[in-house]
Amino acid sequence: MEAVSPTFEDLPPPVHVAIIMDGNGRWAKARGLPRVAGHQRGAEAVRTTVESCKSIGIKYLTLYAFSSENWKRPATEVDDLMGLLRHYLSREINQLNKSGVRLRCIGERQGLAPDIIRLIDEAESKTGGNTGLTLQIAVNYGGQNEILNACRSIASEVADGKLSIDEIDDEAFADHLHTAGVPDPDLLIRTSGEKRLSNFLLWQAAYAELVFVDTLWPDFTKDELLRVIDEFHSRDRRYGNTSG
Ligand code: FPP
Repeated sequence: MEAVSPTFEDLPPPVHVAIIMDGNGRWAKARGLPRVAGHQRGAEAVRTTVESCKSIGIKYLTLYAFSSENWKRPATEVDDLMGLLRHYLSREINQLNKSGVRLRCIGERQGLAPDIIRLIDEAESKTGGNTGLTLQIAVNYGGQNEILNACRSIASEVADGKLSIDEIDDEAFADHLHTAGVPDPDLLIRTSGEKRLSNFLLWQAAYAELVFVDTLWPDFTKDELLRVIDEFHSRDRRYGNTSG
């Protein structure tokens, strides 16, 4: 992306930014390194991006760390990714907590290692009262599955007489998603030049501005984030209305 001087200071930042962190493998390959090295540098980029979002005043950040399809990767790579997540949840949670971050994980708990589920539960309860940045990490997450599960849960509430069919509107539906209580993303970024949603936040991204950057995730910096926010501010968000 071309360098532009960020001018966003005069405009409010997006409330919720979601990121598909892509390109770790290519970053490593370009340097003759194993893929795990790309994921390690990707975890560094997670740390700096959390800091950047806090300093910019973004209230919600959702990161796609492990999709429900990522289990298809070689077992060693799955282990490496789970190891990085384990490290993040155990070693960095105190620092995140001190800086006012509220951490939540979205995705299916079932299928994760029991110690990771425990770390997630502990991190969520430790940081649950924080009012700074809400950091949502998507782990074992798939948007279609999330929507199907919401349908199942709504159908069973209707069958039990707890919900009437007329009460099923977009708000009631959103309340049955993993992201219940969190506003939809205003801005969705994907790094590495790929232009797909890859089953990420399919319901929630309905009106998100999509920005695709060529930068590989380990190289994603605060400056790049500011340029993306500039691009976001240049968009005319109409939500189906006319430009007036
Ligand atoms: C996509 O790159 C990236 C992932 C599937 C994993 C993202 C994980 C991290 C950034 C590190 C751990 C996260 C946390 C929250 C500590 P890719 O491997 O598909 O890259 P490629 O397309 O170049 O092969």
